[in-house]
Amino acid sequence: MAKATKREHWSGQTGFLLAAIGSAVGLGNIWRFPGVAYENGGGAFLIPYLVALLTAGIPILFLDYALGHRYQGSAPTVFRRLFKGGEALGWFQVAISFVIMCYYGVILAWAMSFTVFSVTEAWGEDPTAFFTGTYLELAPEPGLSLDIVGHLLLPLLLAWLVVLVVMVLGVQSGVERANKWFLPLLVILFAILVVRALFLDGAMEGLNALFTPDFSQLTNTDVWLAAYSQIFFSLSIAFGIMITYSSYLKRKSDLTTTGLVAGFANSSFEILAGIGVFATLGFMAAQSGVGVNELEGLTGPILSFVTFPQIISMMPGGPIFGVLFFGSLVLAGFTSMISISQVVVAALQEKFAIGRAAASALVVGVCGTISILLFATTTGLYTLDTVDKYINEIGIITSAIVMTLVVAWGVRKLPTLRAHLNRVSAFQIGVWWHWLIAVVVPAMLIIMLGSTGYSLLVDGYAGYPTWYLNLMGWGVVGFAIVFAVVFALIPGRRGRAEEDAAFDPDDLTEDDELEEVQ
Ligand code: ALA
Repeated sequence: MAKATKREHWSGQTGFLLAAIGSAVGLGNIWRFPGVAYENGGGAFLIPYLVALLTAGIPILFLDYALGHRYQGSAPTVFRRLFKGGEALGWFQVAISFVIMCYYGVILAWAMSFTVFSVTEAWGEDPTAFFTGTYLELAPEPGLSLDIVGHLLLPLLLAWLVVLVVMVLGVQSGVERANKWFLPLLVILFAILVVRALFLDGAMEGLNALFTPDFSQLTNTDVWLAAYSQIFFSLSIAFGIMITYSSYLKRKSDLTTTGLVAGFANSSFEILAGIGVFATLGFMAAQSGVGVNELEGLTGPILSFVTFPQIISMMPGGPIFGVLFFGSLVLAGFTSMISISQVVVAALQEKFAIGRAAASALVVGVCGTISILLFATTTGLYTLDTVDKYINEIGIITSAIVMTLVVAWGVRKLPTLRAHLNRVSAFQIGVWWHWLIAVVVPAMLIIMLGSTGYSLLVDGYAGYPTWYLNLMGWGVVGFAIVFAVVFALIPGRRGRAEEDAAFDPDDLTEDDELEEVQ
């Protein structure tokens, strides 16, 4: 007989809010947003971005909170309690988190290395050659080499070790405590960085480049898809994180007000990151005597790991700026990484009768090994780029479509979930929420998924070979589906069915009276 223990909890509303913001503010804000915004119409991108935040981001954040808090579990538990056969949807979200976790750890490891490299500007005269050559030992063509780059292992192992320790310590002593330290530190470091960036020569030209709208981009569906997938990734929604996090809230907790604060805090940080990054790029353009739009390497990993080192070398006090920038990436990345890991650890713990330490060791061990074999090799950068593209723009968007359709039309639970949100929260939500979740969100996402899916099938991505995209792009999406079905079919620990039958989602009895078998 498994031993009965209480469900873990945040110490209170503030602990949860910090963790939710910590999860949302991540590499997506600093590493992804500025480049995505610039590529997709600059200032004009803010329109689809805000529309995506208001019509999909915040409403799905509320949906995730309502599901996790009402049904008290990780994603598979929640969807199983919601409807028969729902567990597979939960495992699909867990699979997405698992995939993201594996490559997220690698970017964290790079950021850790570059924090140290900043001190001596170790990249020397040619940051491109340093990042792709000396550091990543990147092969000339995408492929699947098993040639592991030895010096990537140390930062990678260190990153996984920190994740493991936080996971083993648990929700309050690990995740919450890490966020309490890392998040304020991040805000301080990043604020200093942005203020410094704004005083650089050319900063205003950089901001003009970011904010000058190219309205012609607004008719391009790819731009809208980029905005929606940026919002999903950035807010940590539709792949299990917020469901899991909100399940640790006490029964009488304000969900919607917290959601609004978390959502707007995340977007504010994101726009702040855009300002900091583009002010810095303006400086680079001024130093090089070119326009910002003539600069290259403004997106993806190249922006952070090549262009920024170039700029750091150009500016007085560069090492300090470098430590601030890469240190911010590390802090922001860790607080998100632990939230992604928590999705997988909690799901395994709840399905099988294993303790937190064992589940954490298993997840970190498997993911750590995959991260070495796939991403710490000489072809790792191509693989990471491909996996990131497909898991976000196909995987997460599919998960959001299925989740909204099932909840709204399949089991018709929107009224129940809205009543739940309104019962515990100060900010009351109206019927508009039903319309957004049942009609607007799925309709927009289906159109955009169709368009991106079509263009990925017909045009491929980044000029990579088709076999490679099939394997590492579509293959990863296929893996998530198979993973979902297999884990849903594997019988879980004994007693789950009885617990589900006895579980009353309307019971808001305080926490210490609630028990869960672990
Ligand atoms: N929300 C996290 C990020 O933006 C995953 O990086």
